[in-house]
Amino acid sequence: MTTSAPDRTALLPLVDLRAQYATIQAEVQAAIAQVLDGMQLILGPNVQAFEAEFAAYCEAPYAVGVGSGTEALALALRAAGIGPGDEVITVAHTFFADCEAIVQVGAEPVFVDVLPDTHTMDPDGLAAAITPRTRAVIPVHLYGQPADMEEILAIARRHGLFVLEDACQAHGARYRGRRVGTLGHAAAFSFYPGKNLGAYGDGGAVVTNDATLAERIRRLRDHGAVRKYEHYDIGSTGRLDEIQAAVLRVKLRHLDAWNARRAEAAAAYSEGLAGTEIATPALRADRTHVFHLYAVQAPRRDALRAYLAERGIATGMHYPIPCHLQPAAREWSAGPGSLPVTERLAAHTLSLPLFPEITDLQIARVVEAIRAFSEREA
Ligand SMILES: Cc1ncc(COP(=O)(O)O)c(C=O)c1O
Repeated sequence: MTTSAPDRTALLPLVDLRAQYATIQAEVQAAIAQVLDGMQLILGPNVQAFEAEFAAYCEAPYAVGVGSGTEALALALRAAGIGPGDEVITVAHTFFADCEAIVQVGAEPVFVDVLPDTHTMDPDGLAAAITPRTRAVIPVHLYGQPADMEEILAIARRHGLFVLEDACQAHGARYRGRRVGTLGHAAAFSFYPGKNLGAYGDGGAVVTNDATLAERIRRLRDHGAVRKYEHYDIGSTGRLDEIQAAVLRVKLRHLDAWNARRAEAAAAYSEGLAGTEIATPALRADRTHVFHLYAVQAPRRDALRAYLAERGIATGMHYPIPCHLQPAAREWSAGPGSLPVTERLAAHTLSLPLFPEITDLQIARVVEAIRAFSEREA
């Protein structure tokens, strides 16, 4: 990619949003200026156009712009009628938002384990956790790789469960040819700035094939109103705003190219790290991985993280404390030891710098440092 000499002292961040902004600055500034000129800031033409464009991108009939990915999860559950007395099964090896959304609608989270290679929901764990109170399941397309949807959907169908895909990290990923977001009854997307499709603030969307569900979510995100002054539900201020929608419309045009570069960078990492103590991401032939994160398993994770930090290389951990071991989730947790795969993965997970603008030289610098760590300290 880049031909200039590698700067081995410059800080290499986990995600470089400034590098991306530099490539789209003029487009973004023009889009924001247009919103400010019109001063229609809430539920205007950009939200409407973005919803149509994002739905088309997902190859789904409906997308509803909301305030965040967490809001998308909670609104979809509420619109599906999930509430007090209901159990919702999800994974603990994820961001805490899935647990929060379930609790926010008054339901109870039930955590199941993940598969040791792909780190997504173990369908056998799902089947074993179903009780007469189970109403919904939230599989998470973690790091950008779709979960085992065929098996999950078959179990859900047998038990009449509502399937809500957490696609917050997986914009554009495909499972057996179909885009995530069209596989379950509904899907939640986050446009948090660092996501594959990120706004310049908070944002989210629910994507669905179900017209009634989409209409309910549209109402719930805007105070339950169908018309001004007429409130049919207890809703909230849960809308995507016009400035974020305008930014997202610009960025959506680049998403496929950005995802392709992410996959290329991930392949370069996996090739460079082969034969080291690091376990690189497992890929499945029937789905694409859009690499929101390049998360590896590192046996000596904390020492490696410190070693890389000393060399100016930032890393992340997604996620070091699983949801069922979070203090806020104590009430719904069977405690340590209850999800052995999740707990083992959490202790060794390490995310390496990955963003579409990362250069080959930056990747080589990370690979070199990890190889040096492996050889010197093994
Ligand atoms: C897997 C997952 N679910 C849910 C969320 C929540 O999204 P948001 O931060 O937009 O509320 C995120 C992102 O932070 C996420 O990564």
